[in-house]
Amino acid sequence: MEMKKFGVVGAGMMGAEIALCFAQAGHETVLGDIKMEFAENGKKRLEGVLAKRVAKGKMTQEQMTATMNNIIPTCTADSVAAYADCDLIVEAALEVFEVKSDIFRRLDEACKETTILASNTSSISITKLATAVSKARAPRFLGTHFNSPASIMKLVEVIPAVNTVDEVTEAVKDVLTAIGKEPVKCKDVVGFGLNRLFHCFYLEACRLVEEGVCSVEDVDKICLYGLGHPQGIFKLLDTLSLSLDVTVDKILFEAYGDRFRPSADMQRLVDAGHYGKKTGSGYYDWDENGKVIGMSAPFCK
Ligand SMILES: NC(=O)c1ccc[n+]([C@@H]2O[C@H](COP(=O)([O-])OP(=O)(O)OC[C@H]3O[C@@H](n4cnc5c(N)ncnc54)[C@H](O)[C@@H]3O)[C@@H](O)[C@H]2O)c1
Repeated sequence: MEMKKFGVVGAGMMGAEIALCFAQAGHETVLGDIKMEFAENGKKRLEGVLAKRVAKGKMTQEQMTATMNNIIPTCTADSVAAYADCDLIVEAALEVFEVKSDIFRRLDEACKETTILASNTSSISITKLATAVSKARAPRFLGTHFNSPASIMKLVEVIPAVNTVDEVTEAVKDVLTAIGKEPVKCKDVVGFGLNRLFHCFYLEACRLVEEGVCSVEDVDKICLYGLGHPQGIFKLLDTLSLSLDVTVDKILFEAYGDRFRPSADMQRLVDAGHYGKKTGSGYYDWDENGKVIGMSAPFCK
């Protein structure tokens, strides 16, 4: 099953980076969003990412130009015809079932029979999405859960739905390996593999702080100097999105009970608009260059 042309729907934080994974491996990649401006902004952000790599000598100017030329922005509002001849399309739009299923139904109608459709959802059942698309597409529908930042993080969870054929799962794993990823096959359960491990771990870190056992900074030191992590868990949480994490915690809590009980402190931060680095504050305070400048979170006082 040779795959040459790729598509990504949703040019936000994940979608643009997922498009970059395919584009930098030399593949033509359609990157769409509900407004052309959003798709172009997604591509523009990637230009910034690549310019830094060129400046650091990790990539040549020619490689950057070739990669950028591989990304074709499109507006999905009226038509998804730009995706018609893609071999694999990854949806990375809003985490809302109705939004995703509508995108997939439209792609199903517009694309060639052999196109494989994949969702980057963090929490929605892949089988439920596959069932909402069409009986004919279900064997060629699965989950591909990339990590943020997708162009750097190697792990991709590949999640077959009940009716996905093995040949499709294997073909997707193969193409992900070919573009430099480390795919891992997971069952279609809530949180898949990574989020179950990750949320369980950081919720225990939150409990350490809430119970007064350690400070935020000391928990981060435990991660760095005791566990060999490249950065502290609270710094990492701030660079993701606290609001998304709280949302996923609630889904995991509903599915698995107490071991995923959401953190009251994190909920308070989100309620106060402290979503992390992108809002300038979370567990830490951040400047516009992405450097920590202090700690003013309410519970740290
Ligand atoms: N942020 C993460 O760390 C992370 C990690 C893994 C998976 N995910 C999942 O990836 C998906 C995207 O997350 P994100 O963080 O990039 O979100 P985001 O809000 O940054 O981007 C979503 C993009 O989708 C676009 N969009 C919304 N409706 C659309 C539609 N109908 N058609 C086309 N585009 C549409 C939005 O305009 C936006 O640009 C979600 O399902 C999320 O759960 C996120």
